[in-house]
Amino acid sequence: MGVRIAELLDVLWRDYVSSTPQAERIRQLLTQRGEILCNDHIALRTYGVAGIAIEALARPFEALGWRARDRYRFRDQHVRARYWQHDDDELPKVLISELAIEELSPDAQAVIGALVDPPGPGCDERGAPPWAWRPWRIRHAEYRALFAESPYAGWVAAFGPGVHHFTVDVASLSTFPDLEALAAFLIEHGFRLDDAGGAIKGSRATRLEQLSTRADPVAVAFSDTTARIPSGHYELARRYRLPSGELFHGFVPASERSFESTDAGISR
Ligand code: NI
Repeated sequence: MGVRIAELLDVLWRDYVSSTPQAERIRQLLTQRGEILCNDHIALRTYGVAGIAIEALARPFEALGWRARDRYRFRDQHVRARYWQHDDDELPKVLISELAIEELSPDAQAVIGALVDPPGPGCDERGAPPWAWRPWRIRHAEYRALFAESPYAGWVAAFGPGVHHFTVDVASLSTFPDLEALAAFLIEHGFRLDDAGGAIKGSRATRLEQLSTRADPVAVAFSDTTARIPSGHYELARRYRLPSGELFHGFVPASERSFESTDAGISR
């Protein structure tokens, strides 16, 4: 792995655990057992607005050798997504999604329109990736109104475009035979799992099984107050081979459930 790639992944991890500290605690627990963690994917979220849309967030990855793969459309969640994969198998896939703003209510569109206008400096102009900061100020009431309509819209408003979650590749672990064992381990250590519809989403038939924690509330500074709101979750994924013998690298249909499950976990 090149130095620049290692630096980029490190920046993303630090950004992520600053809003989702449970991920660092889980990583430490697994590391203490002697595990060496590999990530299956890193998921980034943004708004479908020029300058911060999927393509803008993908640029730093493309510059370092990640190549664009399949696109997805999650109509129920008003989300478009695409993933990027690197030739180096050890590197995580990058799944970038964006909210289709034009499908939201006029009120939500007005709030988001005000956030992004004037647009914050895009990643090109700033010379730094757009996930390094939240490029707007937002009042708590605006966040709550967005969250009520779309938890996804609320998350991006509160945290800015950036990493929503990292996902550990379960195949890289040596002391857990399956996701059930991991689920038991996490529960034993006091973590809450997103168990709406069962803790393990997906199946061998869909070639992708995933497990995720529930998002913890964290303190976020709004322009008028500081409030505790749900952050991101930590995910663990196990992939299966296609009939061809190749490992499945896509995200559908499991990712579709993942979006729903995140929302369910937050709204509770
Ligand atoms: Ni994911």
